[in-house]
This record gives sequence, C-alpha cells and structure tokens, in this order.
Amino acid sequence: MTEPKAWFHDAVFFELNIRAYRDSDGDGNGDFRGAITKLDHIKSLGVDCIWVQPMYPSPLRDDGYDIADYTGIHPDFGTLDDFKAFLDAAHARGLRVVIDVVMNHCSIDHPWFQAARADRNSPYRDYFVWSDTPDKYSESRIIFLDVEPSNWTYDEVAGQYFWHRFYSSQPDLNYDCPAVHDEMLRVLRFWLDLGIDGFRADAVPYLYEREGTNCENLPETHVFLKKVRRLLDEEYPGRVLIAEANQWPEDLLPYFGDGDEFHVCFHFPIMPRLYMALKRGDKMPIIDILSRTPPIPPGTQWMTFLRNHDELTLEMVTPEERQWMWEQYAPEPRMRLNLGIRRRLMPLLDNDRRRWLALNALFLSLPGTPILYYGDEIGMGDDIWLPDRHGCRTPMQWSADKNAGFSAAERTYLPVIDEPPYDYRTLNVAVQENDPDSILALTRFLLATRQAQPALRSGALEWVETDDAAVLAFQRTTEDGPPVLCLFNLSDSPRPGITPLTDVRDLLAREGRVYPAGQPIPLASFSAHWLVA
Ligand code: NOJ
Repeated sequence: MTEPKAWFHDAVFFELNIRAYRDSDGDGNGDFRGAITKLDHIKSLGVDCIWVQPMYPSPLRDDGYDIADYTGIHPDFGTLDDFKAFLDAAHARGLRVVIDVVMNHCSIDHPWFQAARADRNSPYRDYFVWSDTPDKYSESRIIFLDVEPSNWTYDEVAGQYFWHRFYSSQPDLNYDCPAVHDEMLRVLRFWLDLGIDGFRADAVPYLYEREGTNCENLPETHVFLKKVRRLLDEEYPGRVLIAEANQWPEDLLPYFGDGDEFHVCFHFPIMPRLYMALKRGDKMPIIDILSRTPPIPPGTQWMTFLRNHDELTLEMVTPEERQWMWEQYAPEPRMRLNLGIRRRLMPLLDNDRRRWLALNALFLSLPGTPILYYGDEIGMGDDIWLPDRHGCRTPMQWSADKNAGFSAAERTYLPVIDEPPYDYRTLNVAVQENDPDSILALTRFLLATRQAQPALRSGALEWVETDDAAVLAFQRTTEDGPPVLCLFNLSDSPRPGITPLTDVRDLLAREGRVYPAGQPIPLASFSAHWLVA
C-alpha cells in the first residue's frame, strides 16, 4: 500500500542557532540579517529545511528556551521584519523553515509570570502551577539534575512555590487553565500566518501534572496536542509538527496518535546506540533498538540526529550503559552534564575521519528524516571549559579572519574556538571550500548521494545476516528506485564483508568502485558502503 507522503518524509533538516551563525551588525551576536548571507552555504549542503532555534525575546538563561514574549524577536537577533526577510530569502532558495516553540514553560521575565507573582487575584495567576508546599508531584524526576534540587521553587513575591520541569527561571505553564490553551494557539497562528513551515515543539511530555504519576506523557497532554494538530490540519495544511519528547520508542507512539497528533517525533534512543555500536565494534545495540521501534501510522515519520545543541543525552540507555558511555566518550568530568555528554560530534570521534564517515553514512542510511547540527558540516570542535551546554554552541567558523569571520565585534557572545585541532584559523568553511576531501565536501557528497537514492530516503529496511558482530548490513528497498545495500565495518580492523551475488557499485566510493559477484567485499576499518547492482 502506498502511504501518503509529505515533503518532510524525504527532507534533510539543518538545526540553526541564529546567535551562532553570522553577526551582521558587529554586536557580537549572530542575527537574521547575518544568517541571510549564509543561506547559500546552507543550501549548498543539500538540506531542505532549516530548524531555527528560539529567536524570541528572552533573558537567555536557557539560550532562548526561556521565552519572555512569544510573538517577538530578540533584539540581538534582529526585528520581526528581519525574520520575515530571512523567511522569504530561505523560501526563495527552496529552503523551508520551522521554528522552535516552547509550550511547556516561559521565562520568569514573561509579563504573565510577573503579573501572576505580584497578585494572587491576577487572571494570570492561574497560568502557572502553584503550591504552598514543595511536596506535590513527588514522583516526577528532575531533568536538569546537576543544577536544580527540586521541580518546585519558592517565589518570595508570590508567597508560594511554582512548578518547573527545567531551570527555576522557567516556570511551567498550567494547561489546566483554558486561557493558556487560547494563548498558545494564538501564538502558533501568529507564526503560521507569517508563513513558517512548522514547529519543533519543545518538551511536550510535561504539559500536565497529575498526582500519583511521573507527570509525563499524560492523556490530558495528548488531548491538547491533538488540538494543536487540528489547528494545523484545518487552517494550515502542509505545515509540519515535530515532537521533542525524549522517551522510549513505545512511549513515543502515542505522540503520533492515529496519525492525528505529531507528524514527526525525534527518535532519541537510537542516537546513543550508534555511538555505542561504533565504540564496541558491535552492531547489536542498533539492531535491538530498531527491533524495539514499533511501526508508526501512515504519513508519520521519525527524525534522527547524531548531535544537537544539548548534551548528548543518555537518558534512554540503562545505568550500566550510561556509565560505559561516560567512560568511553566523556573521560573527564567536565565533559559530562546531567545524564549526558556535552561534546560535539568530531571531538566525540577523536577527530578520526574514518569514524566520522562511517557514523554519518550509517546515520544517513537509517529510516527517518535526518537533522544536521550547524558547525558539524565542517567538523567543528567544542570548548568544555564553557558552562552548561555552551561549549557546543560557539560561533560558526567561516574563515581565518578575526572571530572566525563570524563577527567584527571585539567580544563575541561566546569565544571562538582557537585551539588545535579545531582552531578556526585552520578549521573553517573557507579552507574547506578549497579542499575536495574536506568534511564540508564529504557532507555535501553524502547528502547528495543519499538524496539521489529513493531507497535510502524512504525505502523499507531489511536486515542482511552477517556472521561478524562488527559487520552491519541491511538493505533499503522501494518501488521508486534500485535497492541499496548498506554495509558497515564498525571495528578498527579490516574485515571480509558479505559476498554479493551480482556485481555491485559502491556509491560511497567517490572513484566509483565496483565489486565483482561471488567475492567477499573487503571492508577497511571503520568503513561504510552503499551498494547498488
Ligand atoms: C529541550 C531543549 O532542547 C533544551 O535546550 C532546553 O534547555 C529544554 N528543552 C528546556 O526548554
């Protein structure tokens, strides 16, 4: 049966931090006018849609995930007109744009919270979740557990405790209050009317609280989220709704509803297992998690990623696996945060191009819509001496010029990376543009090769047996193009691969290598192959 297919099924997404990409006015912060000048670069990667991280007015205590005005633009990033110009310029290049929307919480600086705390009788008081004691909802886990001792914080002005699942500067909105629904739907319409192509909805599992539960994934939450989806379907068809819900695959299923909730959900659990498989030289973590991933309703889609702006989360692994991952990938305490690892992609792979290629090719071979994180297109490094997750959010490295060509300011919002091997003077877009073997060139090659193969974009996945734990093989098949056999050596030593029955061509060998029928394909250490007959 042919399933209904929308644009986001075959797309590749690019996660963009406006503050980090290009500063047009020399104030040290990236902005929309600057990002417009870099849209050709983004387009050149071969991506289809940009996810713009929070760009709202905000005190930036959580890098914009603490919103102080849901329908404005942070003055450091530009104006609403600049945003519209960015949107138009992206659309003119055939790039779609989705934005982050944070429905679960706002900033303590938001006028709603300011009014609510100042006056018990304010209509805004009910916009938040209050209590006289910090004892309610005690079965709820603390997410930012390195920093927050409780999900309740006492507010002197309000004379009560308020509820927050993240930082104490981010009070949760009260979805038992009907006015909050109306406000949020108004916010969504505001941006949809401007022409955005959808939302990445932040932290959706936590909208409601109920005693005796862990306050995650509650039925009431799904009722509200379905209301959001109805708004899109009825008034803005063709726009996409993406769920950020860091949960096990079976717990994510309800977020797709019967195809009437989210179009897309991030697949969190697969991500750490890709790293695990590569380090162990063992394919089983990948096979296990994909076997544990249930089929999803027609028309919906998974979203996959290797890294993003947060710590590499290890919430969806066992405590033993987490410990092992920390030991392997975050040997220094500074590299760890909450239940995760605060490092960028290339440093996680010890700057090893073989591992980079194998992992990226594997990621781009899996079912789902892939997202790339800005900076990873050139293999940028991180700065573990910066606090929180900022080490992975440093300025984009455009050239060897002052501030990596990011900004003319004396001081940038975060320092640029200036130590080898990720030093901006040697690692930047300008240098890589002139090098056919650069990470940038390989990123473009990988994306173009994937996007040219309907089977890789959306084919069904069938495992191919190998008797070697380090050799992962599967076939992607579709009626729209030839099957592609995806073959990986996850180990640091050469292995004999599988033996093809017909001659096969390796799409990942840029010199266009053919392997003859009947002979085992020799696999170099940490290698990837996309084979077609
Ligand atoms: C998830 C976002 O990705 C993260 O950066 C943020 O801190 C939390 N949600 C809270 O909004």
